[in-house]
Amino acid sequence: MIRQDILIVGGGLAGLAAALSSDPQLKVAVISKVHPLRSHSVAAQGGINAPLGNNPDAKDDNWEKHAFDTIKGSDYLADQDVAELMCERAVPAIYELEHMGVPFSRFPGGVIAQRPFGGAGFPRTCYAADRTGLVILHTLFEQSIRKNVKFYNEWLVTKLIVKDGKCLGVIVCDFATGQIIPVEARAVIFATGGYGRVYQKTTNAFINHGSGIGIAYKAGIPLKDMEFVQFHPTSLFDVNILITEGARGEGGYLVNNKGKRFMADYAPLAMELAPRDIVARAIQTEIDNGNGFEDQYVHLDLRHIGEAIIKKRLPGIREICINFAEIDPIESPIPIQPAQHYSMGGIDVNMKCSSCVEGFFAAGECACVSIHGANRLGGNSLLDTVVFGRIAGEEASNYVKGSEKSNNSEKILLEQALEVKMKVEEWEGKDSGEKMFRLLNRLKEVMSEKVGIFRDKRDLTEALEKILELKEDYKRIYISGKCLRYSQELVNIFEFDSMLNLAEVITLGALKREETRGSHFRLDFNKRNDKDWLKHTLVTREEDKARISYKDVKINKYKPVERKY
Ligand code: FUM
Repeated sequence: MIRQDILIVGGGLAGLAAALSSDPQLKVAVISKVHPLRSHSVAAQGGINAPLGNNPDAKDDNWEKHAFDTIKGSDYLADQDVAELMCERAVPAIYELEHMGVPFSRFPGGVIAQRPFGGAGFPRTCYAADRTGLVILHTLFEQSIRKNVKFYNEWLVTKLIVKDGKCLGVIVCDFATGQIIPVEARAVIFATGGYGRVYQKTTNAFINHGSGIGIAYKAGIPLKDMEFVQFHPTSLFDVNILITEGARGEGGYLVNNKGKRFMADYAPLAMELAPRDIVARAIQTEIDNGNGFEDQYVHLDLRHIGEAIIKKRLPGIREICINFAEIDPIESPIPIQPAQHYSMGGIDVNMKCSSCVEGFFAAGECACVSIHGANRLGGNSLLDTVVFGRIAGEEASNYVKGSEKSNNSEKILLEQALEVKMKVEEWEGKDSGEKMFRLLNRLKEVMSEKVGIFRDKRDLTEALEKILELKEDYKRIYISGKCLRYSQELVNIFEFDSMLNLAEVITLGALKREETRGSHFRLDFNKRNDKDWLKHTLVTREEDKARISYKDVKINKYKPVERKY
């Protein structure tokens, strides 16, 4: 049995920030499904928001304006105290990253460069060309090595163990051997990222199955605001690799098949730099109305920006276009379409990242601290990971230092590990049944067709029926390849359980929320309705059923008004 004081699950930015802020006197380890440098944080391109005021157009920026933009962008579903906390901590967080060695791009004169991003009143997105997540991840990983953080890589957490409202640890599967291992921990922090691969078209990595969120849900922890799924406006047509919002921040135009910059019809003030929910819907509307190319995409045109800026500030985008679409954005417009990108919802935690289970914390995309509400602004997710990852590490340390170790936890963990092992043997022992990849494809199809950018009661009801059918079929799953060393099939089988639960929670929340807010657009209830729906959705698993409830949004000084961009 492995024993830790603090166990962090997830080796991306939130997980590493938590590891670095945990008390070094405690025994801290990170479990990661992949090597930490392959975490999905590496794919974040355009930047991280902080009102440094370095851009000549941002001299009047400050954290309160950043908080206002975040809250307005969230369609007023963000908890305002939490949004304020994040924005207040943004500037020190950036300087801390800089001092750790993050190689941010610079303006002449040497200050950190900042570009415009969607929904922001000022150009406040700090960047490292278009590889911002990559350089921050590498820097935090270097710091973790320097501080001797222990890593268990290529381990999958399969179960969170909670007894009498207290977290005892987790059960993991070691990919290399297929072995099931109990890990006892006084505090557990989930920083497991999002669930994008529940959808067909997503900018998310293949690892993003959302199993951390699903495991927490299965352990009885409520999920919050899961119906709010962000679709990024610009993913490369067909392969859905992210084409950063920074490309529009640098001046890129969105153009339909008539040669028109159509954002003038949807957000005449902000144009291409309206918040993502608005731009993604506009693009999809153009495509659905026959104004797209081949009925599937529109153009993102960067040609007027010029070769020098493209090469300097968007080199990764150029490389992606050349390698995956055989076009050079210096010479040709980029074919783009919206794709699932981010989860505003997640594990319900408070502003200390703590949940209703003692000793269990969550940070980053898997968590819902309620910063992003119904729509996240670009550049706020990296900030969320470093600010709340740090808080999670500090709070977990305080918790461990102030609490007693549970009695009996070892016995419970061993029993639970045995249960998981028996489940694997059951899947392995069968020679026929449902094949994993077929179920996975069916789920992705349902979610993409029926729980996408535009939703209505009929589609959502049908989606729920199909998800419940899939849950029945999943009971007949089996492992067809019998070697459990690096078995992707085994990993998928473990994670599919979570994917099904998440799909159900997303769809149920979307069906019940009879209004349009941020990323949740109901064709049959196409207006925001603050009177009935200015509230968070909570879904809790009780006796294997999803139970829905609601809680108030914290409104401070920003009263909800109609958003205009
Ligand atoms: O478009 C982007 O570069 C993505 C940024 C984000 O999701 O914050």
